[in-house]
Amino acid sequence: MKNAEEILSKLKEKIKTIKNINDLNNLKAEYLGKKGSINELTKKIGTMLESEKKEFGKKLNEIKSKANDLIETKKQELEKKILEEKLKNEKIDITLPSTKIKLGQPNIEEKMIEMVEEFFINMGYDVLEGPEIELDKYNFEMLNLPKEHPARDAQDTFYLKDDTLLLRSQTSPVQIRTMLEGKGEKPIRMICPGKAYRREDINPTHEQELCQIEGLVIDKNISLSDLKGTVDAFVKHIFGPNVEIRFRPSYYPFTEPSVEVDMSCIYCDGSGCNMCKPKGWITICGAGMVHPNVLKMCGYDPDKWQGFAFGFGAERLTMLKYNMNDMRILHENDLRESANFDRREDN
Ligand code: DAH
Repeated sequence: MKNAEEILSKLKEKIKTIKNINDLNNLKAEYLGKKGSINELTKKIGTMLESEKKEFGKKLNEIKSKANDLIETKKQELEKKILEEKLKNEKIDITLPSTKIKLGQPNIEEKMIEMVEEFFINMGYDVLEGPEIELDKYNFEMLNLPKEHPARDAQDTFYLKDDTLLLRSQTSPVQIRTMLEGKGEKPIRMICPGKAYRREDINPTHEQELCQIEGLVIDKNISLSDLKGTVDAFVKHIFGPNVEIRFRPSYYPFTEPSVEVDMSCIYCDGSGCNMCKPKGWITICGAGMVHPNVLKMCGYDPDKWQGFAFGFGAERLTMLKYNMNDMRILHENDLRESANFDRREDN
């Protein structure tokens, strides 16, 4: 009996020194395992008198359960400590820098179109749209290009079904639609950015789907100098105040006179470079005074009304602004490219 008490108090002493679960498990085996010291005592029962056996057995069970309690309590204590330690180490440090999330950004051609719209809205223009599937009548005929007109060949067109319906090859038919709505009475100031389609061989400067920005002004007393002032202000807004423009005579069936607008090269001082091939001037749009035939077909009296029109290519404007030499990049939606061009703009 004395032996059993001694075993228990030794266990109490030893348990105080235990610092981890592993050691505790070993201690448990030492005392309560099959060959543990408490079990060893059980063997003594066989050598005892019948009268002693009962008392001893009871005491032994008591000791066993006390030893178990001691170990269990210690186990909980150690586990609590482990948990506390873990929580202490896993504390979130809110001062650490965060992981950067990569954001998308607008396509640079889209940004250019927005810049153009903003400029013209500030000048009092409406921003209009028209259908991409268009009537031959609006895309060509009413723009002074009758069926057999040779200038039709310059725009290799995607026809749909028959020769009355097509994918518009230019945004100029929106001029016709707008004038028809104006019923020969309303002044017009509009731009129309939108897609146009041509059967082109695809290369760095040609694609089959392009974006044009058409402009049309109809009013009384409009002259070529209004067109020049407008395009000059626009080009300075996009490319900077030092850019100059010049008009060169040209031909479009729907304008008379027609001009080609050049701007002074923004990449050299006019001395000639790769971008202006080496002339010092870069062509940026076609334009002119709305042809009297077009005014007439749309119900405007050419003796009372005049107008000017222009057509920019959004890809060309974007390529010039960002110094690009391959327009296909604009439509590939590669975010790395957009980020690149953003940086160019910042510099
Ligand atoms: N539609 C012409 C083209 O696609 C561009 C153009 C030239 C539009 C002169 C106009 C204009 O409105 O006046 O080549």
